[in-house]
Amino acid sequence: MELQRHPVVVTCLLSCFLALGISVPDPRKREELIKLEASMRIGGHLRLSPEEQQVDAQLRKLMQEEMARTDFPPALHFFKARPLIRRSPIYSLLQKMPKGAALHVHDFAMVDVEWLVRNVTYRSHCYMCFTDNHSVRFSFSSGLPKPRLNCSAWTLLEQLRAQTVNVTDLDNGIMSKLTLWTEEDPEIVYPSQDVVWERFEQAFLATFGLVTYAPVFKDYVREGLSQFYRDNVMYVEVRALLPETYELDGSTNSKEWTVKTFQETTRQFVEEHPDFFGARVIATFHRGANVSLVTLAVQEAMKLQAEFPETMAGFDLVGREDTGSPLWLFREALSLPAAQGFNLPYFFHAGETDHEGTEVDQNMLDALLFNTSRIGHGFALLRHPLAKKLSRMNGVAIEVCPISNQVLKLVKDLRNHPAAVLMSEGHPLVISSDDPSMFGASGLSDDFYEAFVGFGGLGNNLGSLKELAMNSIRYSSLPPNLQEKCMSMWQTKWNSFVTENLQGTQAEL
Ligand SMILES: *[C@@H]1O[C@H](CO)[C@@H](O)[C@H](O)[C@H]1NC(C)=O
Ligand SMILES: *[C@@H]1O[C@H](CO)[C@@H](O)[C@H](O)[C@H]1NC(C)=O
Ligand SMILES: *[C@@H]1O[C@H](CO)[C@@H](O)[C@H](O)[C@H]1NC(C)=O
Ligand SMILES: *[C@@H]1O[C@H](CO)[C@@H](O)[C@H](O)[C@H]1NC(C)=O
Ligand SMILES: *[C@@H]1O[C@H](CO)[C@@H](O)[C@H](O)[C@H]1NC(C)=O
Ligand SMILES: *[C@@H]1O[C@H](CO)[C@@H](O)[C@H](O)[C@H]1NC(C)=O
Ligand SMILES: [Zn+2]
Repeated sequence: MELQRHPVVVTCLLSCFLALGISVPDPRKREELIKLEASMRIGGHLRLSPEEQQVDAQLRKLMQEEMARTDFPPALHFFKARPLIRRSPIYSLLQKMPKGAALHVHDFAMVDVEWLVRNVTYRSHCYMCFTDNHSVRFSFSSGLPKPRLNCSAWTLLEQLRAQTVNVTDLDNGIMSKLTLWTEEDPEIVYPSQDVVWERFEQAFLATFGLVTYAPVFKDYVREGLSQFYRDNVMYVEVRALLPETYELDGSTNSKEWTVKTFQETTRQFVEEHPDFFGARVIATFHRGANVSLVTLAVQEAMKLQAEFPETMAGFDLVGREDTGSPLWLFREALSLPAAQGFNLPYFFHAGETDHEGTEVDQNMLDALLFNTSRIGHGFALLRHPLAKKLSRMNGVAIEVCPISNQVLKLVKDLRNHPAAVLMSEGHPLVISSDDPSMFGASGLSDDFYEAFVGFGGLGNNLGSLKELAMNSIRYSSLPPNLQEKCMSMWQTKWNSFVTENLQGTQAEL
């Protein structure tokens, strides 16, 4: 009896609903809404060529496989996710993809620490000492360097290595002082923002003595450009402290020397790699400093900007935002250029915080008041509707650095990063890597992976990637004529990328 009634019930369900006059929403309307919403996201309004559509179809298949994983990399801490990411076919594609520009990278964290240890610390006259709290400092010197406060006696590394049984162990130990990267459980090693920031700053200080040795500085800049170039990045804007550099005899070179060396090294690199566009510098100063020091730094930046207009892009304040002074404290110093009719563009780090409602949480609005060209991080932007509106209206792009925000403990699962929302709305933004060597990342590809896979999944497509790359040129500090030149160079690279991957997909069929 049951068996007989069953089909009757099913027929009745359908016909009875119809009889009751229940109607579902118009599927064409639904289709329209879905399309409208998709068109709002980054890249959503781009029309892909037939060739691009083919690559996109391939990419979509890869993304479906990625989304089906139980160990979905963007949900994991990057230190655990990296081996999975590096094996992902999406990562290989992103590496080959011309990504345009890296607009938020710091000097001293551009070059992987392996190079620092294997190349730099193996040069002669390299001394090292151990600090009270398990960090190290370096100095190159023709004789024994002057004793350093709160650091052990200086040891010549060459001698230390000669007396060490296992030099690989020693080198790995040194490497671990120059980066936050660890094979151990990052949640245990870095239980809080305070701990991770303390270790971060110690690693910077350790790197400082290596990189500010004048001969190393030149090679370091070159190696930095080269690592980004190998990752298919064609242009870099470096946030640079522009420290004085030192020689073996302890004499020092000025900040002008530093900028000049950066400029010359970049020019030479471009000469040797004509498909690399170049690099510019954003002078930075620590936001933990007092008003008089920041005033001096702004004046110094104006001087450098006037002297090296092609290389200098502007000024920024760096360091941990939560413990630094709010931008507003420096309002007079930051108003100096405008008051003198001098154009010093700003590129402020702002909103790199999850402390809502604090003084520091106002930094994004203040940065906009000071006509900032872009906002570094803007992690707190969603909680500031007016800042968000102004940033969108005025085309003040947000520099999103996913891995940095995760390692420095603003967000755990990158699917919950605020930039996922910004991407879905087509907010002006670029993807960057902040301090790749500190996080064990390289170039831009790791951060592009997290943004592409984590901030949107199947909602993203090749158009999203294309627009992100174009944004990085559009929102760069380059003047319009150079932007045009850079964009057309990028377009050529993009076209061959598409063609090559087309051949790739056909070969696989
Ligand atoms: C370090 O790198 C420089 C140039 O980047 C190279 O000339 C030099 O041979 C390298 N030195 C070592 C010890 O690897
Ligand atoms: C390490 O030393 C510095 C200064 O010597 C100090 O400010 C910092 O708090 C110390 N960090 C730890 C973790 O002890
Ligand atoms: C150096 O160590 C001394 C004694 O341990 C301590 O009192 C002082 O604060 C330290 N100085 C710095 C700069 O950390
Ligand atoms: C040195 O240490 C490394 C890493 O701990 C290990 O893999 C290697 O076998 C050791 N080498 C020697 C000669 O003991
Ligand atoms: C600012 O800081 C510097 C370095 O710490 C110090 O020498 C100077 O006295 C400070 N100036 C004021 C006005 O506090
Ligand atoms: C910001 O731009 C406005 C409008 O161009 C200008 O009036 C103002 O002086 C600028 N402010 C600063 C601090 O540069
Ligand atoms: Zn930064």
